[in-house]
Amino acid sequence: MSVLESSTPVNESRTDSSALLRRCLGLQVSLLDQGALDLHALLGTVERAATRLSARAPHLSGPVQIEMEDLTRLLSFSETLWQECEAWQKDAQLSRLIELGLLVEYQSENPLARRERAARDSFWDTDALNQMQASRWKDRDYALPETRQWQDIRDIVASFGPPPDHAPPHRAIDLPAATALPRLSALVKQRRTARNFDQSRALSLSDLAALLWAGAGELGREAMAEGTDAVRRPVPSGGALHPLELWVLAQRVEGLPPGLYRYASRTGQLDAAAPASALPEDFAYRALAGQTWFSNAPVLLVLCCNFARHLHKYRQHPKALRVLHVEAGHVAQNLYLAAAELDLGCFITLAINESLIDECLELDGIQQGVLAIAGTGYNRDRGPVPELWPDAPTETAALR
Ligand SMILES: Cc1cc2nc3c(=O)[nH]c(=O)nc-3n(C[C@H](O)[C@H](O)[C@H](O)COP(=O)(O)O)c2cc1C
Repeated sequence: MSVLESSTPVNESRTDSSALLRRCLGLQVSLLDQGALDLHALLGTVERAATRLSARAPHLSGPVQIEMEDLTRLLSFSETLWQECEAWQKDAQLSRLIELGLLVEYQSENPLARRERAARDSFWDTDALNQMQASRWKDRDYALPETRQWQDIRDIVASFGPPPDHAPPHRAIDLPAATALPRLSALVKQRRTARNFDQSRALSLSDLAALLWAGAGELGREAMAEGTDAVRRPVPSGGALHPLELWVLAQRVEGLPPGLYRYASRTGQLDAAAPASALPEDFAYRALAGQTWFSNAPVLLVLCCNFARHLHKYRQHPKALRVLHVEAGHVAQNLYLAAAELDLGCFITLAINESLIDECLELDGIQQGVLAIAGTGYNRDRGPVPELWPDAPTETAALR
């Protein structure tokens, strides 16, 4: 066995039976108690729950279960240095760890190995990338009873009581009435999350253009550094990089064939990406994890991020993901306010199947990926799905 620097070219004299291996990037192992019932409390007996090892890494689509011997073996490999292993095909444990993607073979074209290389080539902080991957869904469906649990606030309150209250004033100082914002206050009072879209009304193309502009339109540019400009948009962005992009899933827009489009911020145009017929059946429903109250909106605005652009500044930065979440919130609020001005309802959700969406938009989830879905359209005055009404503040039913 020999150990090589990660940059060292492959030893050409290697035999076919040997392989260069190293541990995958950012491997995290956690201890999980499985089926942990408090039998002591229930039956008065003491039962030790089985503790399992769960391994996670940024290039994996989910955690994989491993054994203690696997962990010991993985620890014998470096994350950076290649190690030559003889007769690895006859070593069942090595083969399994490679198949799981926890060990990676030099220059392998296996999809997991390629994805691991993409993670290494990116400037993600590995903890941040692991955190993002851990919160991505593939085929979650809220229509299924087991998924629906803890979705309705009434169930949550029934089981756990009301949430902690807002802190009461401790040493209260009276403030004058907030009257200095007549235009903004009219808009924020009208802002609402809509869940009962009028199926008979399409969105006009000019309303769609206005919404996209409010969320991601370009207002101007200024030279920032050699070869690059600082961009101005209606929302703030870390480093003026504006890595967020809006994609449009048009379902009922006047003058726009149903399908997927990409908004070009700089020119204010739409780039046709895929007609509706090229998308998976029930794409909106599946992308929104079965949230039927959103999936029938005339327009979904898929909030995506050019991570590579963001990471140009936030390279290996532990807060890279948090910055993006704040940026997405700014865009979403602008969409909400623009919708309010247009007398439309709006929504934002993170309960989405990221893996499915990325696949359809041909985003790799490492250099680019989806963060959230917003949507808008005319809302019905009253509908079957509970929502907060600006004009009826007592209506506080089952909010999600
Ligand atoms: C980050 C974020 C995620 C949300 N996710 C969902 C969701 O998955 N499903 C849903 O029905 N509403 C979702 N909402 C909407 C909230 O339920 C809504 O904002 C809240 O009930 C207050 O209503 P209002 O926006 O009309 O004031 C989300 C809101 C935010 C800010």
